[in-house]
Amino acid sequence: MNLRLDLVLTGHFFIMFHKRFLLVLILCGFVILYLTIPSNTFASQEKLVIAHRGASGYVPEHTLEGAVLAFAMKADFLELDVVMTSDGHLIVMHDLTLNATTNVDEIFPDRSGTNGKHLSMEFSLAEVKRLRVHERSNKRGSGPAFIGRFPYESSLFEVPTLEEILKLVNGLKKSHGRIMGLYIEIKGAEIHRQYNLDPAAELLAILERYDYLEASDPIWIQSFDAEVLKTLRHKHKTRLKLVQLIGENRWRLSATDFDYLKTKTGLKEVVGYADGIGPWMNHVVTGKNLAGDLKLTGIVSIAHQLNLKVHPYTMREDRLPDYVETFEDLLHIFFNVVQVDGIFTDFPDQAVKYLEKTSIN
Ligand code: G3P
Ligand code: CA
Repeated sequence: MNLRLDLVLTGHFFIMFHKRFLLVLILCGFVILYLTIPSNTFASQEKLVIAHRGASGYVPEHTLEGAVLAFAMKADFLELDVVMTSDGHLIVMHDLTLNATTNVDEIFPDRSGTNGKHLSMEFSLAEVKRLRVHERSNKRGSGPAFIGRFPYESSLFEVPTLEEILKLVNGLKKSHGRIMGLYIEIKGAEIHRQYNLDPAAELLAILERYDYLEASDPIWIQSFDAEVLKTLRHKHKTRLKLVQLIGENRWRLSATDFDYLKTKTGLKEVVGYADGIGPWMNHVVTGKNLAGDLKLTGIVSIAHQLNLKVHPYTMREDRLPDYVETFEDLLHIFFNVVQVDGIFTDFPDQAVKYLEKTSIN
């Protein structure tokens, strides 16, 4: 009897011991897994800081130097606009023309352009590489668009190609271990067509060479032009994540009807070809009422119901909307109140600091 009891107790002890041992092993597994996950993965619940045209609040937009600074500031993604040269290279530039951010008038005084404007599609890459990039000019071309940023007179920087950015990001990944994602916008599909250039096809070809192929890869492709995105998804069958940017019809960016896209029916259509939307920040918050309450449009909750990510543009410390006193107020409204999934900002360091301080990520 005692012997049987001993055996039963011993067996019970071993089962208990094994269960505990197994539990400890599982816990250790979780701890090791947690410790080995890079601190900056792209988990779906994370809020993204997207460095708009690089760390453009500090260094002229769309330069390799601004990209490195964005990386050092721990931006999750680097936002890039791409246009093409006459010989078919994708260069990193916001405008279709070279005038507002380079010294093209000084280097090519004999090129008349169209109404004094020089389209990138009329310059070869070798010619573009002779230019120097400076801070963006105001609309009159009489000085900087943003007073107080990098000295306007300095022309220290080159126009980068997309390929140079890809090499930079890969280099930093190897030397530093952290991946900065890319968030690439195709500009001016229609005008490129007139020059027999196809930036969307070229973009996919380059990205494929650099192994960006899957939805899980750290890359988003964005466009204001719904047709460009539909072509990428349905004709080229890309699996990469796509974002429909939403602007105002009066900006005359493409044939896309933004008033329609902002409706629930429009957003349902977006679900058929994209994974998220990039609304103008004024499409999300329109101000405060007399009682001081925020006026929200509801676009974020509708998009979230449809499983679309929402990344509004563009938050700038030096161009605050009138319903906030500080940049931190603005970050609080978008990250905490409206609960967007990420933001485009010229000041990535401040957004990263805000998220770290408030432990949202
Ligand atoms: O791509 C997001 C935001 O950059 C859209 O505006 O004019 O800066 O390209 P824009
Ligand atoms: Ca852009």
